[in-house]
Amino acid sequence: MKILVTGGAGFIGSNFILYWMKNHPDDKIVNLDKLTYAGNLENLKEVEHNPNYTFIHGDICDTEVVEKAMQEVDTVVHFAAETHVDRSILQAAPFVMTNVVGTQVLLESALKNNVKRFHHVSTDEVFGSLNLDDPNKFNERTNYSPRSPYSASKAASDHLVRAYNITYGLPITITNCSNNFGPYQFVEKIIPLAITNVLEGQKIPIYGDGLYVRDWLYVEDHCRAIELVLQKGKIGNTYSVGGLTEDINNLTVAKKILRILGKSEDMIEFVKDRPGHDRRYAVDWSKIKNELGWQPLHNFDKWLEETINWYKINQEWWKRVKSGEYKDYYKKQYG
Ligand code: NAD
Ligand code: TYD
Repeated sequence: MKILVTGGAGFIGSNFILYWMKNHPDDKIVNLDKLTYAGNLENLKEVEHNPNYTFIHGDICDTEVVEKAMQEVDTVVHFAAETHVDRSILQAAPFVMTNVVGTQVLLESALKNNVKRFHHVSTDEVFGSLNLDDPNKFNERTNYSPRSPYSASKAASDHLVRAYNITYGLPITITNCSNNFGPYQFVEKIIPLAITNVLEGQKIPIYGDGLYVRDWLYVEDHCRAIELVLQKGKIGNTYSVGGLTEDINNLTVAKKILRILGKSEDMIEFVKDRPGHDRRYAVDWSKIKNELGWQPLHNFDKWLEETINWYKINQEWWKRVKSGEYKDYYKKQYG
């Protein structure tokens, strides 16, 4: 099998490549990545000299580069995106360009090259926001109701992927997963931001009242979910992927991190809320569990400990990431 992975130098994409090459050593991987601020080839050191791995530095919006990358590919796993909600609020245009236009360029090329599977990695954020007391969770039949430029651009990309299946017969699958965490996550997202801030003696910034709820999915569990969808998923289908069965709010996540690191709750700092902040995401992942036999390997607390250990051991990685462009962003976002 020859897989084109887009955005393979990012958080989930690099974890996916490492996971895939370990478990399917005979498959060929082509990684097409623009290396934005979020792309980091250091994540892929382990495989960079593997003859079955090729890196192409390029933009998914560039038809020529995409055509080159698509040669002899039978499967596309599409991760490349602008992904941070706060950045989409500061500047929405790159989100529309990469997430919407880039996805359409890939779809067109996949169709032209008779790709056997186009797997699109999407988010639960396309479904909007649940109330804290809502008994319903997001599932494969939930209506789309995105509320941030990021989620709106991902929703548009999902619609395009489905349209290419229905209109042109492109064999697609989609996963809408919840918030991921784990090794190599860019430090702007709340869990690595909180861990690395505390390791540096800085406070954890918590937006608003901190009672916002996310469903948390460990990145390796997510990679296993994509693997199963590629192997056994039904063409044209969407699968919701989540990691929890009960709500955990942001304040509780911050307190768990502080407890594991042996620090006091005084390290929590309430800061200005995000505009249009979605109150709650909760995912019903019974379809992928019942149809494909997927479930998370461990619970949130165990994976959180593993993640904290990784950031403790790999301080050089995130210290490099925290320098440079990220410093300017942090100043703009947190003052
Ligand atoms: P990330 O921000 O860590 O990495 C994105 C990668 O895409 C980077 O390597 C970047 O260089 C690359 N990229 C950006 N624009 C590009 C372009 N125009 N052409 C080529 N490459 C480009 O993202 P992530 O957290 O790994 O997310 C991967 C995918 O999973 C995204 O599609 C995202 O919407 C989805 N997702 C992420 C989460 C999460 O919690 N991280 C949750 C649900 C869904
Ligand atoms: P984030 O990691 O940005 O992911 P998303 O917005 O895609 O869910 O944020 C996760 C939650 O944490 C969300 O409710 C916003 C909140 N948050 C904070 O409270 N403080 C922060 O500094 C950040 C980045 C996020």
